Amino acid sequence: MPHIEEPLRIQPLDDGLRKDSQIGAEVVLPSSMSLLDIPSLSENEKKLLRNGLFDNGVLVIRNQHGIEPKVLVQLAKLLDDTALDFHSGGAKQVTDPNNILSQNHCTRIPRAPQVTVIGQGVVRGHEGTPDLDLKHLDHTAFHEEPLSDEAIRNGHTRPYRWHMDAPLYENLPGVATVLHALEVPDLPDQTLDFPSGEEMDIAAGATAFFSGARNFDLLTPTEQQFAWNTTVQYAPRAYEWIKDCKATADGLSIAKKGREKDESALPSFNWEKVHSFPMVWKNPANGRPHLQILGCCVYSLRTTDPATGKTVTINDLDEVRNICHGLQARVYAAPNIYAHRWRRGDLVVFHNRGLMHSITGQLSQHPERRLLWQCNIASQSVPEAYSS
Ligand SMILES: [Fe+2]
Repeated sequence: MPHIEEPLRIQPLDDGLRKDSQIGAEVVLPSSMSLLDIPSLSENEKKLLRNGLFDNGVLVIRNQHGIEPKVLVQLAKLLDDTALDFHSGGAKQVTDPNNILSQNHCTRIPRAPQVTVIGQGVVRGHEGTPDLDLKHLDHTAFHEEPLSDEAIRNGHTRPYRWHMDAPLYENLPGVATVLHALEVPDLPDQTLDFPSGEEMDIAAGATAFFSGARNFDLLTPTEQQFAWNTTVQYAPRAYEWIKDCKATADGLSIAKKGREKDESALPSFNWEKVHSFPMVWKNPANGRPHLQILGCCVYSLRTTDPATGKTVTINDLDEVRNICHGLQARVYAAPNIYAHRWRRGDLVVFHNRGLMHSITGQLSQHPERRLLWQCNIASQSVPEAYSS
């Protein structure tokens, strides 16, 4: 009997993992394919992959051991017709010690400079990179009031910082981020803490996600109207600006004003290159609204009253942060969080313009190593605003 080729399929994760998050599906590759080979996919399969991502937020392809780094680049480009050919963090990795984006000691792969090596532990001779001492950042370095040593010893953790992969200056954020796990430490599960006292069992070092669409659904009609009539202005050189700031316990915002760097202490910048984005972005496949705010980096808000058409700028930083935090805090509840449990060989792609994500865990307290590749390609298209 001739062998019948099974095409690529998208299979949503179990309800027990998805809960109310609206996130997570597995990609089952065509039966003839063990490693993702994008040029060999049919146009219909590429479309399924694309729509599968925008509908499910996170797609997981298992057992991609030995995949080439260029496949991460091809996958990111498949999801963005306007993708450029370099990482959204710049053609070269940021090495400035003042930039919080270089505190994890990551580097780029020489044969695929669009791909960053991240993880935890000493890595020698990987992909022609210099010896690396990778740092898995954890909330103790960034939260105003971190968990006690005892709570951490008992396996509790928090989200480090909720964000999109977005430089917020010059290069536009990639539509999708692709991650590949080459080494995953075998550690006991941890407990993710919520300000409500709620807890959630997660894998140590899980990457946590919530959906901007789920977040938008949780807003009142008045808040929704405010959100889609508002533009978020980010700070110039935002990551340097907040380098000395500390976060709220949920990792969504900055706890106290006053430690932001003075503009004169920032690397030179041009306001025209500092990003401002609509507060609500339109899903490119299904048209749904996603509330997308990188709360730690907000600077001011411009909002238009739909009744009068009058636009005002909210400059008071406490007020700006309170507004954004108020809109986002309610989504940080266990039913809305998908926490990816990494397995060696996983290829994970997420909708960077439709979700927020965060590091969790305290991997640096363990000797075991973690090694991941990450790719987020700069885009030429600005996020499309959702309008009612
Ligand atoms: Fe990220």
